[in-house]
Amino acid sequence: MFTVRLSSMFVLLCFLYTCVLVDGSDKKETDVLNTCLSSKHHKTQPGPEDNLFKCSAWLNNSCCTNYTAQYVHGDGQPLYNLNFSHCAPMSDKCRNHFTNNNCFYECSPYLGPWITPQKLSYRHERMYKVPLCASQCNAWWQDCKDESTCVENWSTGFKWDKSGNHCPRNTVCRPFTSVYHNASHFCETVWGPDDFVVTPDHNYCMKLSFTGPNPNVEVAYHYALKKHLIKGTAVPPYSEPPKIPPLQVQGTIFSVVIGSIIIIVVIALLIFVGLKRYRGTLFHHQGVPMRFRNLLRSSRQSAMVTRSDPGAEMSFMQYEEEEEEDNPEMNGSLRLDL
Ligand SMILES: *[C@@H]1O[C@H](CO)[C@@H](O)[C@H](O)[C@H]1NC(C)=O
Ligand SMILES: *[C@@H]1O[C@H](CO)[C@@H](O)[C@H](O)[C@H]1NC(C)=O
Ligand SMILES: *[C@@H]1O[C@H](CO)[C@@H](O)[C@H](O)[C@H]1NC(C)=O
Ligand SMILES: *[C@@H]1O[C@H](CO)[C@@H](O)[C@H](O)[C@H]1NC(C)=O
Ligand SMILES: *[C@@H]1O[C@H](CO)[C@@H](O)[C@H](O)[C@H]1NC(C)=O
Repeated sequence: MFTVRLSSMFVLLCFLYTCVLVDGSDKKETDVLNTCLSSKHHKTQPGPEDNLFKCSAWLNNSCCTNYTAQYVHGDGQPLYNLNFSHCAPMSDKCRNHFTNNNCFYECSPYLGPWITPQKLSYRHERMYKVPLCASQCNAWWQDCKDESTCVENWSTGFKWDKSGNHCPRNTVCRPFTSVYHNASHFCETVWGPDDFVVTPDHNYCMKLSFTGPNPNVEVAYHYALKKHLIKGTAVPPYSEPPKIPPLQVQGTIFSVVIGSIIIIVVIALLIFVGLKRYRGTLFHHQGVPMRFRNLLRSSRQSAMVTRSDPGAEMSFMQYEEEEEEDNPEMNGSLRLDL
């Protein structure tokens, strides 16, 4: 009877353990935090690269190939044939910001929480309302506001032919300051509308340029939680971009802990049951009534230390009475014996 109950409990525990394991390595969740846009130049899977030229911040984990990275900063061919200098040659200080933005767009594997479908000839997905740090947007705007353009949004505003992008009829080249109202309007519109939402720096926000570990990993994790795209409780402190996606690591640790607890509980149960059975059979065979068990035990101990004592031959009840007297002489003889 008890064996049946125990084994069914074991099956139940194993089932729970399996659920934890499956939950911890949910593929969809890790995809959100480490994925590439479906687009003309993006890799299908993120991964490390040997050389990314001006996009080297993304070397450790990147959606762009070295080929794409080689051309992100240039006008015209070969990537999209987009001419940044369509009104006037773009200054280097401004171009650096567009280059950083292009690296971010082409290389970042951490845009998962903001990817939405979009049917264009050159992509099936776009990023939508990515929270861009206000400080990054302001720097971009400060270095570019004196450039000029003829369209507000550069992904849909131009007229295109084989030689690239051109200003549509009835448009004129104007300084950015006359096309855009302010920094936020510029950052949110130039590649948009709504690629970015400019976000105060004290909130979780994405950086287009950085040195060292990629700060956007943590930001993506935060928003994935907030949008219920993944399960979890808190944003962990930042660590190196993981080889194993962070959720899987967490899941594994969780599973190991739960697994260990289950195994310990099962072993404890088995030992408990085993002991109970062993004792049961022992006393059954010797035919000693339960209430004499303590007496038997104490008499054994006493018999061991007072081997030469003739009292060892006394009955249980008599011997116990003598012990209660706490005889100092007897203690002395004990020491000598030892
Ligand atoms: C890109 O890397 C591959 C090897 O991974 C190499 O063969 C190729 O020449 C590189 N291309 C550029 C533009 O660096
Ligand atoms: C970009 O456009 C300007 C103005 O039309 C033109 O002078 C320049 O040659 C173009 N650059 C490229 C690489 O197409
Ligand atoms: C893009 O900008 C052009 C003019 O600059 C405007 O006519 C068009 O409606 C804009 N498109 C979107 C989707 O906002
Ligand atoms: C920037 O301009 C937009 C209008 O395009 C406006 O809605 C927004 O409030 C302005 N932001 C700031 C900070 O002035
Ligand atoms: C890439 O990772 C290595 C160690 O894993 C680290 O030393 C290096 O600084 C990282 N590079 C970047 C650009 O984060």
